[in-house]
Amino acid sequence: MKKLNIGLLGLGTVGTGTAKILIENKEIIKKKTGANLHLKKAADIDLNKKRGVVFEKGTLTNDVFEVINDDKIDIIVEMIGGKTIAKEFIIKALKNKKHVVTANKALLAEAGEELFELAYKNGVDIAYEASVGGAIPIIKSIRESLAGNNITAVNGILNGTCNYILSQIANKGMEFKDALAQAQANGYAEADPTFDIEGFDTAHKTAIIASLAYGTKINFDDLYIEGITGITKTDIKYAKEFGYLIKLLAITKDLGNSIEARIHPTMIPINNMLAKIDGSLNAISVFGDAVGELMLCGYGAGMMPTASAVVGDIIDIARNILFNAKTRIPIAGFMPAQIKSKPVTPIEDILTNYYFRFFLLDKPNVLSLVAGILGAYGISIKSVHQKERNPQEGVPVIIITHLAKEAEVKKALKEISALDIVLQKPVFIRIEDDEK
Ligand code: HSE
Repeated sequence: MKKLNIGLLGLGTVGTGTAKILIENKEIIKKKTGANLHLKKAADIDLNKKRGVVFEKGTLTNDVFEVINDDKIDIIVEMIGGKTIAKEFIIKALKNKKHVVTANKALLAEAGEELFELAYKNGVDIAYEASVGGAIPIIKSIRESLAGNNITAVNGILNGTCNYILSQIANKGMEFKDALAQAQANGYAEADPTFDIEGFDTAHKTAIIASLAYGTKINFDDLYIEGITGITKTDIKYAKEFGYLIKLLAITKDLGNSIEARIHPTMIPINNMLAKIDGSLNAISVFGDAVGELMLCGYGAGMMPTASAVVGDIIDIARNILFNAKTRIPIAGFMPAQIKSKPVTPIEDILTNYYFRFFLLDKPNVLSLVAGILGAYGISIKSVHQKERNPQEGVPVIIITHLAKEAEVKKALKEISALDIVLQKPVFIRIEDDEK
């Protein structure tokens, strides 16, 4: 039986999961590939840690170059993460004409183009299914299964930590910090959880998906990124009363000459498919001209689900090697010469529905002042609800709008905030609805 050798860099959570699958599921992988995918070397700085995996003698090493420079190794699996040494190691592996599998979303979001070019130059592949949505085969779906479509939009819940926190607050009334601590304990969160809750992790994944879906270069710094730290129990409760849930959503649309790509807390109707995605689950809805809407859902974080995607990539590459079919599928979905740059629409130019929560003095004429300013900026009101009655200390007033332009919304809210009947800074949350 043909043997292909694999070298693993990094035995953290996902690296360990990958080793575990390669070792423990060796026989089933043989049956499906006709080859022995052998974990020849695995490098990590800490070799004493108990990992619950039985490695063959001589597999473990402290020296990454012992792995990258091993002539017998066909596929390097980079599980270190980050944008510095991981990049250096991937470059070295590609130059050594080794195929690379990685889950490194931050690196791919910011330097994917450079690495893909180097891979083509050396006639090897880079596979990165685990970089977006953990176990969910979204990269494969877009690159292969949906290749016949013009993809018009991709929206997703791409961060398990945020989805877990928002679900725990909505379903159990839990405090933000307690839900975050649980997500960390469950192993979903990044080493620095601000990457999760401030939206950067979702943004890295969004950049990868948008480039792949639309055949564009995306400048990561042009994405609009807003995390979930400003979301309160109060707004989650009111959202529910109005038939919405709040999710940290990645929203991308191909507008022809530009791409909309934004990450922010979003109210979605409870009957939207993405609203059913609870806890650490991720889900991604792809809209194509032939397929309509296709939603994929699964575990977007955690050791074994993410390792499942890594091993899927290893097997894909192994099968290509066995049939001498390198870079059979374009790494970024489109033929390299067809990839164009398109600008990302500035957030000020987007058109969407809005939820406003004001805290207003409860006396005659107050609402007309607020409505007057909204009207002056062309913002049309869909519904208004006053939540309580308290003439002395003020009351929450919720307004839901029809489609409005973000720049006008911000100007209107600034003017409204300056009124003396406004007792707190207004809150606004974007709504993703079907209104045209
Ligand atoms: N920290 C990420 C999440 C998992 O919470 O979804 C890895 O992408």
